[in-house]
Amino acid sequence: MKSALVLGAGGFIGGHLVKRLKREGFWVRGVDLKFHEHAETEADDFMIGDLREQEVVRRVIDRRFDEVYQLAADMGGAGYVFTGENDADIMHNSATINLNVLDACHKRNIKRVFYSSSACMYPEHNQLDPDNPNCAEDSAYPANPDSEYGWEKLFSERLYLAYNRNYGMECRVARYHNIFGVEGTWDGGKEKAPAALCRKVAMTPEGGTIEVWGDGLQTRSFLYVDECVEGTTRLLRSEFEGPVNIGSEEMISINDLARMVIDLSGKSIDIHNIPGPEGVRGRNSDNRLIREKLGWEPTETLRAGMEKTYAWIANEAQRRHNLH
Ligand code: NAD
Ligand code: GDD
Repeated sequence: MKSALVLGAGGFIGGHLVKRLKREGFWVRGVDLKFHEHAETEADDFMIGDLREQEVVRRVIDRRFDEVYQLAADMGGAGYVFTGENDADIMHNSATINLNVLDACHKRNIKRVFYSSSACMYPEHNQLDPDNPNCAEDSAYPANPDSEYGWEKLFSERLYLAYNRNYGMECRVARYHNIFGVEGTWDGGKEKAPAALCRKVAMTPEGGTIEVWGDGLQTRSFLYVDECVEGTTRLLRSEFEGPVNIGSEEMISINDLARMVIDLSGKSIDIHNIPGPEGVRGRNSDNRLIREKLGWEPTETLRAGMEKTYAWIANEAQRRHNLH
């Protein structure tokens, strides 16, 4: 039986990845600081541990796993990574995890390690025009990410690829573009726009108003988590090391995303744009490279993914409301 290790298995994407690997017949070990908040883990073995601790990482990586997925990071949406208040923690925590994990994998002679970088590593100067952002993989340098979170991702991308060159590892690096879906963070300050807007609409009565950060004309693309997991496993098992975008090319403004959610809710709700952490002005995945290298790209529409996500968050919000 093949074995897989999912680091960050108590998180959003890690939780979905564990389910997928179990369906494929893997023996799966999951590791996280915490248990998953929204679902029982399906991992055969779930270890609670802090991957900033070298000793913990050595205990976790105690055998030669066939596949390792490194998703653990100190991360969140715009309200967490773009305020500047968490910069030191974000850089220290995530870089320490990556340094420890690579060292332990190399010593166990593990070859295939997946690393989840982010579109946040792209230079700010290519993302000033909301209608025409440039996120082609080869636009990464000269580097100029707009957040320390992005700088850490860029450093760690380089670290994984250095282990490939110097130690014959076969790490694979993806740049995720805003992943959303069911069983993700939807409140508490780390949630991203799709979940935050679903929550706001779900909790607003007919005829009410929701607040949306910025002028709402900033653009993004969003990828449903199932397609993210599909791209992740495909990349790890391919002969292409990356870095490569895993994202959707269906770009939308944030106010239009809010209008989509309002429409899905069936309610009549107004939008009030207020100041807030905004991040880059425009961002969209560029899927030319993934099409060329993997012969695959995501195809699900944003609306189809948002429909599932809104239904799940509206239900969670209702359950919480009933509890109080
Ligand atoms: P998440 O926050 O839900 O999951 C990350 C998990 O890592 C959390 O459960 C957290 O507890 C765990 N973790 C953090 N520090 C740890 C530590 N010291 N030891 C053990 N576990 C620790 O985030 P996610 O959305 O599932 O993202 C997974 C990965 O993908 C992250 O590396 C993130 O930076 C990257 N990424 C995500 C997105 C997105 O839109 N979700 C976009 C770009 C990149
Ligand atoms: N989170 C959030 N909550 N964002 C909002 C809200 C709200 O209530 N209202 C409007 N927005 C706007 C933000 O101001 C931002 O301009 C845009 O929606 C998208 O915000 P997020 O989804 O939070 O983050 P992001 O796309 O800027 O960055 C995210 O994606 C990266 C990968 O593409 C972050 O999660 C990064 O950590 C991630 O790496």
